[in-house]
Amino acid sequence: MTIKKQSIHCLDYTVNIASILSGDFEVFLAQNYADSKKIIFVDENTHEYCLEYLIANFEILSDAEVIVLPAGEENKTIQTCIQVWEAFAEYHITRKDIAICLGGGVITDMGGFIASLYKRGIDFIHVPTSLLAMVDASIGGKTAVDLANYKNMIGVFANPKAVFIDTAFLMTLPIEDKIGGWMEMLKHGLIADKSHWEELKTIDFKDFIMPESFIGHSLEIKNTIVKADPFEQNSRKTLNFGHTFGHAIESLFLENKQALNHGIAVGMGIIVESFWSWKKGLLNQETLNEICSTITEKVSLPEIKNVQAEYLWGFMQNDKKNESEQVLAVLLSAIGSTNINEEITMELLEEGIAFYNHIN
Ligand code: GLY
Repeated sequence: MTIKKQSIHCLDYTVNIASILSGDFEVFLAQNYADSKKIIFVDENTHEYCLEYLIANFEILSDAEVIVLPAGEENKTIQTCIQVWEAFAEYHITRKDIAICLGGGVITDMGGFIASLYKRGIDFIHVPTSLLAMVDASIGGKTAVDLANYKNMIGVFANPKAVFIDTAFLMTLPIEDKIGGWMEMLKHGLIADKSHWEELKTIDFKDFIMPESFIGHSLEIKNTIVKADPFEQNSRKTLNFGHTFGHAIESLFLENKQALNHGIAVGMGIIVESFWSWKKGLLNQETLNEICSTITEKVSLPEIKNVQAEYLWGFMQNDKKNESEQVLAVLLSAIGSTNINEEITMELLEEGIAFYNHIN
C-alpha cells in the first residue's frame, strides 16, 4: 500500500506524515546535523520494538548515544531528568547536538523538557511511536514532567525542530494505547470539527486501522488552535476539554500506583465533562447521549465505583487552567463548539462521578 505523504506546517517546524524510510528524515539529519552528536531517547518498550528500525536504516545514526528512560508516567519526574543531564555532561553534549525523542507521550514530554533546558536549550525532534503522541503530545510545544502526582506541573513551551510520523510504529502498539489515541482525536472533533468526530466513529475496533488521513485531520485541527494561541492564554484552553476530570483521575490512579493510559483518562473526562456541559444547560440531551454511547459501545472504560469525590477535587483545585480559587473547565455547547472558563463545583463533580458509574 502506498501512503500519501502529508506535511503540516506548524509555527516554526513541519510535521511529516510518511514512512520514515521515504527520505525526509535522513535528509533533515544530514542537512542540519551531519556533524552533531545524536542522542536518541527511548523507553524500555521503544528500545525493544522501535529503535532497531531507526538504527538499522540510517547510517547517520550508527554512533548515536541511546538513553533509555524508564517507561511509565510514574517516571516522568525531575529526578529522571537530572540523571540524564548528568549523562549529557559526561558525554560532552553541546548546543550543536540534537536529541531524537523516539516514543510515546512520556518520552516526547520529558525528552523535549530535558533538551529544552540543557545549556538553555539544545535542538530536539520527535519521532512519536504511539497514536496519542502522534496526534497530540508531539505537536504544540508543551514539554513537562509531573510534580509528585500532579500531571505536567513543571514544564516549558519549546518546539521541536521537526516531527516525523510513521504509522508503521502503530503495529507494535497495545490496543489500550490505540484507544487512548482515538480518544484524544475524538476530543479534537468534539471541540472543533464535527466531520472529524463523524469519521472517527467509523473506526472498527476489531482490526483498528487508523488511516493517515484521519491522523492528518486531527493534527490540522490541533495546529490551527495552537497557532492562534501558542501559549494558552485563551482559545488553546479548548484543547483541555476532557482533561479537568481526566488529569484528576489520572493523578489519583498514579497515587494509587495503578496504570491508567492518558488517552483513556481523557475518554473518561470526555464523558464526565459532556455531562457537566448538559447539566449546565449548554449541551442538549441527545448530543450527550451520542457522545457517551459512541465511547461506551466501542470501549470498556475503568470502573471508578469506589472513588471519593474529595480526592479528585483536591487534584482539580490545582489544575493549570484555574484562575484564583475557582475550578474552571472547558465545556461543550455542541459537537464542534466550546465554552472556556466554566466554573465547576464539588456538587457537579459528585454528580459527574455518579453519571459515569451509571452509564459505564
Ligand atoms: N494537549 C493539549 C495541548 O497541547 O494544549
